[in-house]
Amino acid sequence: MNQTNQVYPVIWHNDSVSLIDQTRLPNEYAVVEIHRSEDMARAIKTMIVRGAPAIGVAAAYGMYLGAREIETDNRTQFFDSLEKVAQMLASTRPTAVNLFWAISRMKKTAYETAGTVEDIKKILLKTAQIINAEDLQTCQAIGDNGLKVLPATPEKLTIHTHCNAGALATAGYGTALGVVRSAWREGRLARVFADETRPRLQGAKLTAWECVQEGIPVTVITDNMAAHCMKQGLIHAVVVGADRIAANGDTANKIGTYSLALVAKAHNIPFFVAAPLSTVDFELADGSEIPIEERDASEIYQVGKTMLTPTGAEFYNPAFDVTPAELITAIITEHGAFAPGELQKFSQKQMV
Ligand code: MRU
Repeated sequence: MNQTNQVYPVIWHNDSVSLIDQTRLPNEYAVVEIHRSEDMARAIKTMIVRGAPAIGVAAAYGMYLGAREIETDNRTQFFDSLEKVAQMLASTRPTAVNLFWAISRMKKTAYETAGTVEDIKKILLKTAQIINAEDLQTCQAIGDNGLKVLPATPEKLTIHTHCNAGALATAGYGTALGVVRSAWREGRLARVFADETRPRLQGAKLTAWECVQEGIPVTVITDNMAAHCMKQGLIHAVVVGADRIAANGDTANKIGTYSLALVAKAHNIPFFVAAPLSTVDFELADGSEIPIEERDASEIYQVGKTMLTPTGAEFYNPAFDVTPAELITAIITEHGAFAPGELQKFSQKQMV
């Protein structure tokens, strides 16, 4: 955290990348220094850094760190080695498209840079820093665009969110929590309801931590309480982030998002997805093609050192689900909020 209490999970500092270790929050605020691309790949895989846009920023720096390690002056040999770095980073987490977007932007920059290998390395660092800075601006724009579509209510709003799509999941400010932050700044927000988000508890640990840091009232509920809270009239709108959005607006996000969208629909509560356009994968026609990461079963059967389940039980641990476009009221981007079907108009502009 810096002096203004803002959270920047990935920053370039002293010739290395500083990551807030998200596996240790909220009990401990620790920063990990990453000097090598292999360590960056491990940090993404083990979720020291997580959240689609933050993974993209981290991977961009990972590409630079990998480039820096390559000891050759020969451009062809350099590109061969850089390709291996790209593959290593790309193999970390399959669902968040921002990872692949950032890697391909870095690769394209490298190939298009004339001059020596040293010139390319310098441009790669600059490009990673630009990706980092752009994401922060993008999130602030998403937050402010969210204000235009949040429902007008006589009382201040209560916004329900899932997982953590906050500053920690981006370069800063957040996507879903960016909307929350903008609503709070404008005096329109009463409170956030944060699903705890089993199995890794990003809502309970990270979203609640961010809200507490900023003095935003937050109520943590377990994932199975959403329908009850909605039925009681406690929720005005749901705002979640996204890991990958297909061209038709179907949206992959943290497991449990789909059921939240269903219960929101049942209670006539608007359901918003807040995400940068870099999260839209225009190559996928619909959500059925989005790869879903399956994580280790220990995330389900174990909390700390405590075993929750009997020996002999079996497990299924998909990390994401896909919410069909028809359950989404609008997708809030840096260019405005759109019905899912309207995303197509950006398909050409987004190609890197
Ligand atoms: O597995 P995680 O913690 O990386 O999953 C994060 C989410 O699902 C977020 O909602 C998504 O990445 C959007 S972050 C702005």
